[in-house]
Amino acid sequence: MHLDAKVHQYDFTVVSNERVGDGIFRLVISCPELASLILPGQFMNFRVPGDASHIVRIPLSFASSDAGTGTIELVYAAVGEGTRRLSLLEAGDGSDLLGPCGHGWNVRPGGRALCVAGGVGVPPVLAAARALVQAGRTVDVVLGAQTASRLWGETDALALGAGEVIVCTDDGSYGMRGFATIAVEKLFSANEYDLVVTCGPNVMMGAVARIAEDAGVECQASLERMMTCGFGACSTCNVAMRAGGYKACCMDGPVFDAKEVAW
Ligand SMILES: Cc1cc2nc3c(=O)[nH]c(=O)nc-3n(C[C@H](O)[C@H](O)[C@H](O)COP(=O)(O)OP(=O)(O)OC[C@H]3O[C@@H](n4cnc5c(N)ncnc54)[C@H](O)[C@@H]3O)c2cc1C
Ligand code: FES
Repeated sequence: MHLDAKVHQYDFTVVSNERVGDGIFRLVISCPELASLILPGQFMNFRVPGDASHIVRIPLSFASSDAGTGTIELVYAAVGEGTRRLSLLEAGDGSDLLGPCGHGWNVRPGGRALCVAGGVGVPPVLAAARALVQAGRTVDVVLGAQTASRLWGETDALALGAGEVIVCTDDGSYGMRGFATIAVEKLFSANEYDLVVTCGPNVMMGAVARIAEDAGVECQASLERMMTCGFGACSTCNVAMRAGGYKACCMDGPVFDAKEVAW
């Protein structure tokens, strides 16, 4: 199926789908053609088999892709019917997805960058961190979760060769107690950044965007909206802009210049 110049429908096969936390799953799919062209920060729109009445696809970002093995790694929270059925897929099961959707991170060489993720915002932020390290930057990572059992990504962040990795939990069950923004403020007072990338709860991204803007530092934010089509046809994913009007999260985003968003 051809949707526009870049979004196509691809079949995929599940390589593994394992529980890695409380309601958090790590899915690895085989989708060779897409694995070689999807860019960090872009997303895929999954058809999850099993319920003919559930026709809306599930938009998911990815943590890593490997053109050599043809695989893509995702991490998702089972929050509703679609993601619950996704969690039931086993190795060898197959379905289809639309991708690569949207615009990803603007990755370029530069100075020190700070990557800030909360909750299930970790996968696209890890993909950004990896690309920024590959671009020659020093990258610090802040990972936030409600509690230790819902935390994922620390091992992966450490494996990237990132500068400093700070983990925060709201309840203090692991790492620093409190919101990710406390760690961001601490790092900002110790280091000089020229880029911040963030994905997670809206309130966290808005706070991170304000810290970056006050310091005159560029901030890119990957937004989440309810999505029906995923390719610009339905207007369900509007993002209010600071200058007025709306943009489509699925086509203009999900990564936006944080200064342009009406938080
Ligand atoms: C670009 C993009 C990338 C995403 N990447 C990831 C990811 O890497 N990992 C991950 O766990 N989740 C990600 N999400 C969120 C994921 O798409 C939703 O959790 C999922 O669609 C919920 O579907 P469901 O049928 O299980 O839940 P539903 O029964 O539809 O809803 C359950 C709950 O999830 C909320 N929800 C539903 N759809 C979305 C949505 N599109 N965005 C945010 N909240 C939603 C509902 O408001 C409700 O509270 C992403 C969303 C977008 C837009
Ligand atoms: S999801 Fe339909 S326009 Fe964005």
